[in-house]
Amino acid sequence: MSNSANPCQIGLIGLGVMGKNLGLNLADNGYSVAAFDLDNEKVQGILDQDSAERGDKAPRISGCNSFEDMLAKLEKPYLIVLSIPAGKPVDIVCGKLLELGLSLDDIIVDTGNSLWTDTVEREQKYQGKFTFFSCAVSGGEVGARFGPSLMPSGNKSGWARLEPVLHAISAKVDPATGLPLENNQPGKPVTQGEPCAAYIGPAGAGHYVKMVHNGIEYADMQLICEAYQTLRTALDLQPKEIAEIFRAWNKGPLNSYLIEISAEVLAQDDPVTGEPIVDKILDVAGQKGTGLWTALSSLEIGSPAMAVTASVYARGLSGLKDNRVKAAKILSGPAETKVCDSEKEAFIKRVHDALYCSKICAYAQGFELMKKQGELQGWDLDFAAIAKIWRAGCIIRAVFLQSITDAFNKNQDLENLLMDDFFASQIDSFQANWRESIVDGVRLGVPMPCFTSSLSYYDSYRSETTAANLLQGQRDFFGSHTFERTDQPRGEFYHINWSGDRDQVRIK
Ligand code: 6PG
Repeated sequence: MSNSANPCQIGLIGLGVMGKNLGLNLADNGYSVAAFDLDNEKVQGILDQDSAERGDKAPRISGCNSFEDMLAKLEKPYLIVLSIPAGKPVDIVCGKLLELGLSLDDIIVDTGNSLWTDTVEREQKYQGKFTFFSCAVSGGEVGARFGPSLMPSGNKSGWARLEPVLHAISAKVDPATGLPLENNQPGKPVTQGEPCAAYIGPAGAGHYVKMVHNGIEYADMQLICEAYQTLRTALDLQPKEIAEIFRAWNKGPLNSYLIEISAEVLAQDDPVTGEPIVDKILDVAGQKGTGLWTALSSLEIGSPAMAVTASVYARGLSGLKDNRVKAAKILSGPAETKVCDSEKEAFIKRVHDALYCSKICAYAQGFELMKKQGELQGWDLDFAAIAKIWRAGCIIRAVFLQSITDAFNKNQDLENLLMDDFFASQIDSFQANWRESIVDGVRLGVPMPCFTSSLSYYDSYRSETTAANLLQGQRDFFGSHTFERTDQPRGEFYHINWSGDRDQVRIK
């Protein structure tokens, strides 16, 4: 507990689920925390939890009843962690702390899902006043409590001070196996292993990388949902049977947290009716916006993250529930919607392979997007390090991320994951089933927006020639937008005099 002779090392503002768990995680790792929330009940909540977990040991967390109280309990220079909603609240709280007096050595760390451009602006705005640093957090409430994946960015002096703290509280990976070192016991943090926290780059870089993490998360979740819907529709399987299929898949290359929790959800009965809970959950998806941001960014900079965009649209379509209910009564589908029992095993294997190949494409798109934005912003991103810190703690953690780490360790300049020998050969081995599974879906009328867009991405990416030549011809025809020629150097532009003699003009 803090007193003037023994002040707290870290101030924590915002004690919602994430903030409270980050506070307890910091305390487990030996940091004394001065915790504040505008809601007094939340302050009491973290104190009660601390008291329940620490047994007869001394309190590790000091509750604060105001910003002033928190600052008075902190050692200087201040290290203040914000776990508050992204957007305006971050500016309001920074403004308030500034009013109360901050100095250049003080650090405020934003751990919310902030828009990366806001983070860039904030760092500039507060320069010369205090150090504004960001640390994007993935892993949900359990991650925050026992070890999240952390994506910090900002100035290097901020990182030097924060590095030991963030390494301590992050998830850890066994360097020998690349697998997470599991931890779920209060008071017993994992201290060995490779920490899932690495300096990402200057302000904004960490939040951008977290945004893309979430975009990939959207795609990964949607792909799993498409696999589920295909199995359910075509084979008439019960949720528990699909849970078993997912559990079997979780022993192979698809091993991931998202497959594991999908199986948990499918195996769960509704405590009210006893029926499968998944059948009682309304099929309307929520979203907080990071998937949309990823899709928008990919469109803006021309780096196709089609799996992410398709999954954002899929959530949009889910929201058209009333329309879908009406349309289901009017619009027809194929006559055949089931496959016979004798085809079952092969059908399931095809869905597995389609999910795996589509997943490779979704990750390839995410890493390509970070590469392009990194180049535009001059961030010098280390993709092997990014893949490494996603191996544990975060929502997209998966065995597969070790293969991505290996790919970038082999070649840091890899332009696309699909070009890595391992991933190219994986798709080579499984693509026949991927294509067949999509044919199955199309034939049976099962929507597969993410499976199909991933395959189109793959087929487009491997095409030396696309139909964009015709497109350039169309643009030149109706708008004199000009085109480059295949037999002339890039950067030389030509136009056909379509409405006149149809001769070619070189545009100077
Ligand atoms: C994470 C999660 C986390 C949050 C998502 C939910 O990495 O811990 O991604 O950030 O749960 O933002 O996003 P949606 O509500 O948009 O699905």
